[in-house]
Amino acid sequence: MPEKSLRVVSGMRPTGPLHLGHWVGVLQNWVALQKQHDCYFFAADWHALTTHYEHPGALADLTREMACEWLAVGVDPERATLFIQSGVPEHAELHLLLSMMTPLGWLERVPTYKEQQEALADRDLSTYGFLGYPVLMTADVLAYRARLVPVGQDQVAHLEVTREIARRFNFLYGRGPVFDHLLAEARGRFKPDLRKKWDQLVEGYRESGTASSWGSLESVLGDVPDLTSEERGALYAEVRGTGREILPEPQPLLTPGAKLPGTDGRKMSKSYGNAIGLRDPEPVVREKIRTMVTDPARVRRSDPGDPERCPVWKYHETFSTASTREWVQAGCRSAGIGCLDCKERLLGHLGEALGPVRERIEHWHNHPRDVEEILQSGCTKAGREAHQTLAEVRAAVGLAERR
Ligand code: TRP
Ligand code: SF4
Repeated sequence: MPEKSLRVVSGMRPTGPLHLGHWVGVLQNWVALQKQHDCYFFAADWHALTTHYEHPGALADLTREMACEWLAVGVDPERATLFIQSGVPEHAELHLLLSMMTPLGWLERVPTYKEQQEALADRDLSTYGFLGYPVLMTADVLAYRARLVPVGQDQVAHLEVTREIARRFNFLYGRGPVFDHLLAEARGRFKPDLRKKWDQLVEGYRESGTASSWGSLESVLGDVPDLTSEERGALYAEVRGTGREILPEPQPLLTPGAKLPGTDGRKMSKSYGNAIGLRDPEPVVREKIRTMVTDPARVRRSDPGDPERCPVWKYHETFSTASTREWVQAGCRSAGIGCLDCKERLLGHLGEALGPVRERIEHWHNHPRDVEEILQSGCTKAGREAHQTLAEVRAAVGLAERR
């Protein structure tokens, strides 16, 4: 198998049963990513506590049940590391260290901070933990030095904080003795002529900062023998004045927007009561589809419709075969079929997709020890990675080694 290229980290809060929107939006994306990348997926149980601390409920059960759902839709412990945030205490340690150097203003300015406080006005969210939500996310990601973070649009502002914190960390702690040593080693590998040329180019870059002067810098490094990638990184960091990259800045990987609307045509969400749950029994799904809104122009059976204006069509796009989709397009526009016929066909295809998922959820639900074991070994593996990062972070900050 080819080396998996990039480290990917993402989390999901265990707040209750998942619905089709989670599956088609987020989880199918995870399933695709695990094939090419080195993925770490975790249940963000501490994040769930930031908004639900008054009613912690059964986070352990919610977490295990969510894992059943992940496994049922094909998130694969052989390909990705599945674990629980609270099972890797390094997240908390890193959160604490990062909190020391995170300006309050950065957190107060995150748009979701005020919005969420208003949206969840029934809860007291003027807490230290809630303000620190993006710092905890930052720790989740940086503990693994992830390059890519699949998230929805609503999380992009948090990821921006993550990038700023990483930059600040590297600036503050990336320029100590280790950095100087790396630079000295790197410079030792230059032939004297080349070193002179490099220094001139650096000066030129600092004055002009153009892409082409950066390009000449890169080409000089191509002529330096035996340069390690860390040394190369240190040289570039020195040119930019940023410090060593102890914690790389990750990129958000935007999850494609909600493909499946809820049964009322709005975004699918448990709180709107318009969601179809992965665990909904067949008769419940049938009833939800039966009462689902359609193209408002089709008042009577004889009125032609437009699938583009109908939420049911979005479901056909996701679950139906090409021949059914053609049948819908033609029949809807000509009023050759009624909405009930259309929904009946959909139920067939949806059932084919959802039936096996429901069965697999049931299977994992009945084998809680197997699920626990998967999560446990995921925590162990994630813990090893995070442990390494934290050792470097502690050293960079100047703390004593952990014994
Ligand atoms: N805040 C994310 C959400 O609500 C979940 C999350 C927690 C997360 N930590 C993360 C996502 C780290 C990506 C990376 O969806
Ligand atoms: Fe929607 Fe199907 Fe009715 Fe057309 S026939 S409006 S696609 S439910």
